[in-house]
Amino acid sequence: MVVYEVWGGQPLYGEIPISGAKNAAVAIIPAALLVDGVCRIENMPKIRDVTLMLEILQELGARVRLLDDTTIEIDARHVRNIKAPYDLVRRIRASCYFIGAMLSRFGAAQVPPPGGCDFGVRPIDQHIKGFEALGATVEVKGGFVRASAPNGLVGSTVYLDVVSVGATVNIMLAAVLAPGMTVLENPAKEPHIVDLANFLNAMGADVKGAGTDVIKIRGVQQLTGGVYSIIPDQIEAGTYMAAVTATGGEVVLKSVIPKHLDGISAKLMEIGAEIEEQGDALLVRRTGKLHRANVKTQPYPGFPTDMQPQILAVLSLAKGTSVITESVWDNRYRYVDELTHMGAQIQVDGKVAVVEGVGHLSGAPVHACDLRAGAALVVAALAATGVTEIDGIHHIERGYENMVEKLQGVGAGIARRERPSPVSLKSVR
Ligand code: EPU
Repeated sequence: MVVYEVWGGQPLYGEIPISGAKNAAVAIIPAALLVDGVCRIENMPKIRDVTLMLEILQELGARVRLLDDTTIEIDARHVRNIKAPYDLVRRIRASCYFIGAMLSRFGAAQVPPPGGCDFGVRPIDQHIKGFEALGATVEVKGGFVRASAPNGLVGSTVYLDVVSVGATVNIMLAAVLAPGMTVLENPAKEPHIVDLANFLNAMGADVKGAGTDVIKIRGVQQLTGGVYSIIPDQIEAGTYMAAVTATGGEVVLKSVIPKHLDGISAKLMEIGAEIEEQGDALLVRRTGKLHRANVKTQPYPGFPTDMQPQILAVLSLAKGTSVITESVWDNRYRYVDELTHMGAQIQVDGKVAVVEGVGHLSGAPVHACDLRAGAALVVAALAATGVTEIDGIHHIERGYENMVEKLQGVGAGIARRERPSPVSLKSVR
């Protein structure tokens, strides 16, 4: 088993380059299925979720070429397969975007219900509502979501009852080639939604209003291909901002869009960080004490749920009582027990976590149960005294490119190690 071993308690100094955004990349890869030409995508993050999405695309019949470290070329013109591979799809949430993309391109899709991090129930009713509004019939049968629109999709108005990133992406993908106008009301406004719209427009689509309360998509006949560069990852940057706030020190995050980080910066400054915008870089410094704060997660531009575990780790080091309210997911505190093994004092009641800051954490063996939970354990471990061993790191590597190397580059004591399997009784005999 491979684990991260972290020797904590050292402030971080230096620079960290931020990679392309995971949640933009995993929406743009299935969008490439709609392109009747070749698309070149730059700033693609080198993470497990991207590899999985590309594997699904290849299984469907697309040609994927790696041009350099972070640039890929996709040619999906010859794809004919409408049935997504079960084993790959079940491993990643964003695989459900192939439903919208296939419906749009072929008028039919068969995709297993998606997997992904376990935060309680993760319905796709809003995605289905959107497909049906555009004229598809959808049923969940035999372990597959089967969608079909034999006469093609037609533009329509869809109001989302819940602000959903996934439903917004899927409906955008389905609508891009549907004749007429699709009006998507109450969509998600995350930076990765705007990035997907920009990608589609760069390929020849007509999408307006992404990032606002209404997205209008006028269906076009064809997307023709082109070059696009993915935005920097808001949550990767936020995670390192949280790490510097927890450990102290001074780090410059390179290649970010500071505006995307406003909600995270505001909260970390309240807690004690100093943050300075330097063009497309952000300097994060913490020299003084950490202060308690209350945090409520919300869809963008609110404080992101994907930063909730990391900020909770920081607040467990601050003196005083902090209250965190998770308003996006039903069950996103499964990692809290692991932080308590490191000395944190946290009480969870439903969607609220009350953190009694202890001022100090100590290293312990802990388990990462999902991606951002793993990131929170790294943040806690970097600030803790002693050694922390984190297992379940495959979750972390789904979404963070070269986390160990990036942290080593700012002086962190962290390494990826092979942990010997426990000796079995049979081999002792
Ligand atoms: N929801 C519904 N019905 C739907 C869809 C969603 O009720 O049809 C509810 C969900 O149960 C949840 C809320 O709406 O309570 C928001 O869910 P959303 O659809 O926005 O989440 P998602 O698309 O499944 C994406 C990110 C998550 C991130 C959420 C919220 C990707 C691939 N995943 O998930 O990112 O937490 O949006 O911002 O974009 C991560 O990167 O670690 C991660 C989990």
